[in-house]
Amino acid sequence: MLRSTLLAASRSRLARRLVEGAPLTRSVVDRFIPGATLDDALAVTGALAADGRYVTLDHLGEDTTDIHQATATVDAYLRLLRRLDEAGLTGRAEVSVKLSAVGQFLPDIGEKVALDNARRICEAAATVGTTVTLDMEDHTTTDSTLGILRELRADFPWVGAVLQAYLRRTEGDCRDLAGPGSRVRLCKGAYQEPASVAFAQKSEVDLSYVRCLKVLMAGQGYPMVASHDPRMIAIAAKLAHQAGRAADSYEFQMLYGIRDAEQRRIADEGNRMRVYLPYGDEWYGYFMRRLAERPANVAFFLRSLVTR
Ligand code: FDA
Repeated sequence: MLRSTLLAASRSRLARRLVEGAPLTRSVVDRFIPGATLDDALAVTGALAADGRYVTLDHLGEDTTDIHQATATVDAYLRLLRRLDEAGLTGRAEVSVKLSAVGQFLPDIGEKVALDNARRICEAAATVGTTVTLDMEDHTTTDSTLGILRELRADFPWVGAVLQAYLRRTEGDCRDLAGPGSRVRLCKGAYQEPASVAFAQKSEVDLSYVRCLKVLMAGQGYPMVASHDPRMIAIAAKLAHQAGRAADSYEFQMLYGIRDAEQRRIADEGNRMRVYLPYGDEWYGYFMRRLAERPANVAFFLRSLVTR
């Protein structure tokens, strides 16, 4: 109930005005989004890399219906990739892109604009020697996003996809994307979805996550295990071992600000551990999804409002 209210609010303009206008302490948002500027993001990336972790950077923004805004987002990614290269961080950091931020929702021309824009980002990533992963948004975008992924992979076979275990279709998508070199980030899923397309119970989502992990770990691609759930992490490690995978043939991923000690433990044990690091001003949707994932975050947020 609380989850669906927060997820509905994540797409409401009125709620956005209320939350953004609230006297909320920056420290609450900072827990998940450590900086508004590129310099902030690069400083955190450098620190995580020095600590033995990998990073994927997300320039915050989504649901763009303005072509100039979509172009501005592409420019922000090109700047980011240039700066990662200058800082010598491209061996440790890649970028994550939401297609809705680069034009996917523009009426009539959205898919073409998003493909062209994503291609520009991939070209820049190739130039500096790093990779791009396409985030996955709600289920209405899945076919379009996977279609754009297919087109991009013809020229950039290393482009990664996110698949969401809560969708009933995802085990099949995992089979389709488990081929050689295919980078797949498997997460549980963060949007509000109807029962016709998504599992509603946590236990069903977890079982689906495990089925998908089995397909990916037994496949020939590069699985990216994006979860903070200790059970999913332990099962992934066991499946990787059973499949005879080397430590550099898959990786674990978590969001910035969540289970930091566990991130370190996983990296210290010789595994690849990548941190998803968002930055920028457009933090509202991302922040609300993080609140929706864990009721304790809402309590923390509310406390910060009253104890200021
Ligand atoms: P689960 O929700 O069961 O949480 C397990 C434990 O992790 C909790 O008990 C708690 O300890 C901790 N935890 C989880 N969320 C927390 C939070 N917000 N605050 C504090 N603690 C928390 N989704 C999507 O739909 N599209 C996408 O493209 C992506 N991309 C993505 C990238 C990466 C690298 C990650 C790690 C996650 C995503 N997600 C996503 C989000 C994902 O779908 C999911 O909502 C969250 O990861 C939470 O699910 P868990 O697997 O962590 O399990």
